[in-house]
Amino acid sequence: MTTDARKILVTSALPYANGPIHLGHLVEYIQTDIWVRFQKMRGHECYYVCADDAHGTPIMLRARQEGIEAQQLIDRMHAEHTKDFDDFLVDFDNYYTTHSDENREIINTIYKRLKADGHIDVRTVRQAYDPEAEMFLPDRFIKGTCPKCGADDQYGDNCEVCGATYAPTDLKNPRSAVSGATPIEKDSEQFFFKLADFQDFLQQWLDAGHTQAEIANKQKEWFEEGLQDWDISRNAPYWGFEIPDAPGKYFYVWMDAPMGYMASFQNLCDKKGLVFDDYWGPDSKTQLVHFIGKDIARFHTLFWPAVLHGAGFRTPSSVFCHGFLTVDGQKMSKSRGTFIMARTYLDNLNPEYLRYYYAAKLSSGVDDIDLNLEDFQQRVNSDLVGKYVNIASRASGFITKHFQGKLLSPLNDKKYMDGVNGAQFLIAESYEHREYAKAIRDIMKNADNINQYFDEKKPWLLAKDETRHDELHEVCSRTLHGFYFLSILLAPVLPATTKKAATELFGLDRNFIWDDLKTFPASINKFKPLMTRIEQESIDRIIETTKQHLAEQAAVTEKPPAGPLTDDPIADEIEFDDFAKVDLRIAKIVKAEHVEKADKLLQLTLDIGGETRKVFAGIKSAYAPEELVGKLTVMVANLKPRKMRFGLSEGMVLAAGPGGKDLWILNPDEGAQPGMKVK
Ligand code: MSP
Ligand code: ZN
Repeated sequence: MTTDARKILVTSALPYANGPIHLGHLVEYIQTDIWVRFQKMRGHECYYVCADDAHGTPIMLRARQEGIEAQQLIDRMHAEHTKDFDDFLVDFDNYYTTHSDENREIINTIYKRLKADGHIDVRTVRQAYDPEAEMFLPDRFIKGTCPKCGADDQYGDNCEVCGATYAPTDLKNPRSAVSGATPIEKDSEQFFFKLADFQDFLQQWLDAGHTQAEIANKQKEWFEEGLQDWDISRNAPYWGFEIPDAPGKYFYVWMDAPMGYMASFQNLCDKKGLVFDDYWGPDSKTQLVHFIGKDIARFHTLFWPAVLHGAGFRTPSSVFCHGFLTVDGQKMSKSRGTFIMARTYLDNLNPEYLRYYYAAKLSSGVDDIDLNLEDFQQRVNSDLVGKYVNIASRASGFITKHFQGKLLSPLNDKKYMDGVNGAQFLIAESYEHREYAKAIRDIMKNADNINQYFDEKKPWLLAKDETRHDELHEVCSRTLHGFYFLSILLAPVLPATTKKAATELFGLDRNFIWDDLKTFPASINKFKPLMTRIEQESIDRIIETTKQHLAEQAAVTEKPPAGPLTDDPIADEIEFDDFAKVDLRIAKIVKAEHVEKADKLLQLTLDIGGETRKVFAGIKSAYAPEELVGKLTVMVANLKPRKMRFGLSEGMVLAAGPGGKDLWILNPDEGAQPGMKVK
């Protein structure tokens, strides 16, 4: 049944360490995980590695904004990402980081080899520079007025309002998103990878079917104007690896990111005693498979193969691209509540529902896939609960009650087993070629047939007639064989539920492998429910929490500090009566605590003279909790308690400043006493 064992190394793209995992990311990790689980079930030697992409300007700036070291930020993100992936049952053999010794060593080796062979150029280039923050600015960190439609606050590379693309120098009133200063232009030396050296090699590589035809064709368009050199360096300050013999110059994050695949695998080799060169050496016979989103195809199908080839490593066997996730037919949106974080989903729903839904939508193409929330609920309820799990719950009761759990085996029924084998063969082909939607359609067709067979045989009537119990035994055994068969086929998609079926119902001591199709247990244990329906409330809660998330972020200044204070316009006038309603009190901070999963909030316990209040304050970027204890501050004491994601906030403390580290809580004189009214 299984073909000769293959050795396969699989990767998913490395998520950036500057933000949480969301449902868009999960399209990729779920797609890859299903493929890897399928390969492992088939008996192949398959390793799945990934890592956090831990370098680059956004990570450096975010750490700065939170007032922590970059290392602290990436450590925290690594822990969060690992937990999210674990809980979504994405089963990496290794999940590492690009900020590792292994990766530093690999990039240095590759760089030296490329340089020695003349593939690196040094040239002076003119770039935008922030004279106040004293740093060169990536396009994304220059903001200004769109030259085309006049919309304000647009990024340096494209306008989110009218969709125009342009160079940052085209922006009107450009300013640095880091300091608010007007950028100037400045010369500096940069290092370039001479991609054009590899044009012939890439032409062949792209023609050899290593990636989807539409992706290959798209890349070949770059050949027409001639392949441009690729700028692989950045000036300090930068968070990354310094280039050997070039103080103050760093490797651009996209240079060392794909090498993170190698570094993560090296780390796994050290743990498991695998041989790195078997997988990455120039003569490697193993399969190297990258799963990525179509947005990063150029990095993986031009730069990456060229860099590997140039440095004497093997090149990828396959780069499988997928499309983007839309929710209810539209781009994921924070304000609609559809920019859903992995954690928000996990707090409310079983991860396997989403794994199933994505599988039911995914093909080998690069089309976007839509998560339609109504369809999601309906499909999961009808397919998984109504069709699949229901089969076991319907048939197992009779077996337990009338036959002490004993099953009759269908393995000698040639006609039936031919059908089973034909079906599993087709479904395996679909998994192998990433046609999961087709696999799921075929699996559900079988589920329909099994349910129909059960309905036609009316076992509930057979059970009432002692003389027909052989038939009852036969029908229910056959039905449970159907459930066994479906469970094996669904195991790559639903690893937890099928493992429960394997261990609890069928008494195996492990999850299914594909070869289990050749056998059938002699008995079952008592059936326990395997899965419940999706309730509308769970989905509502996810949307609600996602919206609330956005509101909190806005409230605690998500954006980089806005620079001069006068950037904050004075709000509309209010009446004196409105002001008089605000009851401001001196409060003493008696306790300050971290809030789990909140990036910006601290929970403060305040003494306002005989009464204590708990409030959340978005000041974590400016203060460590221990700095606050004992301090006096001013609070709004009559603010209606607000229910936040993390609990109830019974008031508000006053703070001033542009945000980030530059934020100060109001700190009255020593003479003030908790509870005093502020006038
Ligand atoms: N750090 C780079 C990848 C480096 S690989 C050497 C990166 N990170 S990412 O966090 O932005 O994205 C990680 C993967 O998730 C990418 O393959 C990306 O295409 C995918 N997705 C991110 N958002 C997505 C959707 N909304 N929909 C589908 N996939 C998406 O790119
Ligand atoms: Zn515009």
